[in-house]
Amino acid sequence: MLEHGGRLRRAAVEYGIPLADWLDLSTGVNPNGWPVPPIPAETWARLPEDDDGLSEAACAYYGARHALAVAGSQAAIQALPLLYRQLHGPCRVGVAAPGYAEHAQAWGTAGHEVVNIPVGAGLPAIATLDRGQARSYDVLVLIHPNNPTGQTYAPTTLLAWHERLAARGGWRGQPPRSHSFAAPRGGAQPALGRPGGWRGQPPRSHSFAAPRGGTQPALGRPGGWRGQPPRSHSFAAPRGGAQPALGRPGGWLVIDEAFMDATPASSLAAHAHLPGLIVLRSLGKFFGLAGARVGFVLAEAALLERLRDLLGPWAVCGPARHIASLALRDTPWQDAARPKLIAAAARLADVLAHHGLPPSGGSALFQRVETARAGEIHAALARHGILTRLFEHPASLRFGLPGTASEWTRLDAALAKISP
Ligand SMILES: Cc1ncc(COP(=O)(O)O)c(C=O)c1O
Repeated sequence: MLEHGGRLRRAAVEYGIPLADWLDLSTGVNPNGWPVPPIPAETWARLPEDDDGLSEAACAYYGARHALAVAGSQAAIQALPLLYRQLHGPCRVGVAAPGYAEHAQAWGTAGHEVVNIPVGAGLPAIATLDRGQARSYDVLVLIHPNNPTGQTYAPTTLLAWHERLAARGGWRGQPPRSHSFAAPRGGAQPALGRPGGWRGQPPRSHSFAAPRGGTQPALGRPGGWRGQPPRSHSFAAPRGGAQPALGRPGGWLVIDEAFMDATPASSLAAHAHLPGLIVLRSLGKFFGLAGARVGFVLAEAALLERLRDLLGPWAVCGPARHIASLALRDTPWQDAARPKLIAAAARLADVLAHHGLPPSGGSALFQRVETARAGEIHAALARHGILTRLFEHPASLRFGLPGTASEWTRLDAALAKISP
């Protein structure tokens, strides 16, 4: 699994500083998030229901026509490459880099060809789409504003790219090759080796907490079911009826707007019903509800239906749906939070610049500093109990926002001690 910010427990062990004493600036989560009220007991006891008003709350908040709730935008990041492959076969996908690395990982894991598109210093590679050069993509994945570089795009430019992608078709000439998770209905199943339980090495008890950079525990030889093989579309069968038509295959523009909430005028949410345009939103950043695991996919209704079938029932738990509904409807809180975050981001940029670390970019929820000293500064701040997010290529640090007055003072004081 990829590394992300927010691994405070590990830092506490590594630096011998108790968990409670840390200032965690390693994520882009709002430190003054939406205040969660007590949760009604029945939300724990009842199965979540799709028609509880959450989608409507999301549509109203995002200004979108259709919204599908998912267990964090991460769930959609992993599912969309599988869905694309089901619908259109393997493709060539351009992914903004550096960027939230889960996108490239998910498209690659699903068997697509992933091409990194450098963003941050202008738009050289992406601009080829404008010029209609041969080198183009079936799918383009952008993070807007980009995490970690902060790169932004004009909505009109994005819409022009979307139009070009949607028009060009999801594959070129070739029909999609059959593949393991989208075998044609009634067609032959791909071979899975002979069935059987798994033998050989039993898993180690901490298989999902393996040492960093250590070897993966052995999985032995494959196997798993006896008797009937699964049906080819077992996790994407239409629920009780025909699937809504998805129109002819076209390329996709996927825009991850996880950090967009403070600047809604730049969002493409209002256009997300257009075929081939998919917008991802998260409640983890602006609302500070990262632990609730709620996000949304905004897209045309037919595509959301397919995605919902792929993800299965009850994708978001009842308590999280309840909280998300309330937060999305709390317009006074949202209106107050936006200018506060924008001001805090500007203040953070000033503090960093004051200590010789001028940010190269950022968003309302983080600032990024590119410096060859990134590793050294990361470790020095950690010794002061301040956790930042370190990137190795290119060497850089991402700083989230301090929340309280004393946290601002603490960051300032620590930076003063480690300034060159
Ligand atoms: C750009 C971006 N997109 C999506 C995510 C996933 O967010 P979540 O699954 O909490 O909605 C992250 C998390 O850090 C992110 O940085």
